[in-house]
Amino acid sequence: MNKIIDIENLTVSFGNFEALKNVTCSIEAYPGIIGLIGPNGAGKTTLIHAILGQYKASQGKIKLANQALAYCPDTPEFPAHLTAKEVLQQSCALHEKPENAEQIETTLEKVGLVDYPSKKVGGYSRGMKQRLGIAVALLLDPVLIFLDEPTSALDPIGRIEILQLIMEVAQEKTVVVSSHLLADIENIADRLLVLNHGQLIFQGKLHQFIENSQMDDFAELEIKSEQVKQEVMDILQVNDIEFYPEITGKLMVKSEYTEKLLQVFPDIGGKISVYRATSNSLELAFERAIMGVKNEKINFS
Ligand SMILES: Nc1ncnc2c1ncn2[C@@H]1O[C@H](COP(=O)(O)OP(=O)(O)OP(=O)(O)O)[C@@H](O)[C@H]1O
Ligand SMILES: [Mg+2]
Repeated sequence: MNKIIDIENLTVSFGNFEALKNVTCSIEAYPGIIGLIGPNGAGKTTLIHAILGQYKASQGKIKLANQALAYCPDTPEFPAHLTAKEVLQQSCALHEKPENAEQIETTLEKVGLVDYPSKKVGGYSRGMKQRLGIAVALLLDPVLIFLDEPTSALDPIGRIEILQLIMEVAQEKTVVVSSHLLADIENIADRLLVLNHGQLIFQGKLHQFIENSQMDDFAELEIKSEQVKQEVMDILQVNDIEFYPEITGKLMVKSEYTEKLLQVFPDIGGKISVYRATSNSLELAFERAIMGVKNEKINFS
């Protein structure tokens, strides 16, 4: 086991406010992606900054192996008048790292910026800036890279391209990705750290987090209008089909009732806009873990 980060009972305070409370976790260095998730204000960015030594622990400690860590913020900014190559040269100087023209070239190639040798960063799109931020991080040849919401400012195509780049980088390195896009995290990550109100509520394998939530498979019914929703609920109830109303307005029917549900379809089909079989997802597991069980069963009695 190659632990590169070992955190024990870490508390980070801003004045009286504890942004991280008694967090204990460790990160091992093997290639792959660790999703760092939690609602706004949960402490994700604070945790990254604390590990990088930018915030002091008010209690507890962070032990780091003597290996390079790198970081790319959500919207990396660079001096507008420089080219990508110049940014990387400047970064070498800043980190007192001997400049290696070949390494700079390979890094730019890896992130897909080699075709813009004379383009100034000021004219870069957000996706290109994100690529350059990742290039700056890669140049340090770290064992681990933190990417704080790497796709939050990107359009759908840019997002997919950056996710692909992250997956390539993660073939060789440990990449910690914080994101609110849980479907993305579910697709790319194998491990997970979950924060809520400054507390670490889960660390481990992503599939374990989903399994822990003990969600069943569901049929998801989207109803055409609130007006007909009551009619659908009445029909389900009369036919002893258990369902759970969602805050989004959908009705969730456990898969064990699928057969019964199909039998009443002639009555309810016209009132439903979407019928979909859903299985467990990170999104649902997260919602359960953070907000508690909302999908309380309807009481028939
Ligand atoms: N420098 C600071 N001074 C005071 N409070 C801070 C500071 N940095 C963070 N906080 C507070 O600490 C809490 C955690 O913030 P943090 O930025 O780590 O959350 P986050 O999980 O990254 O949220 P988001 O998803 O919005 O990025 C928040 O309540 C925030 O207001
Ligand atoms: Mg943040």
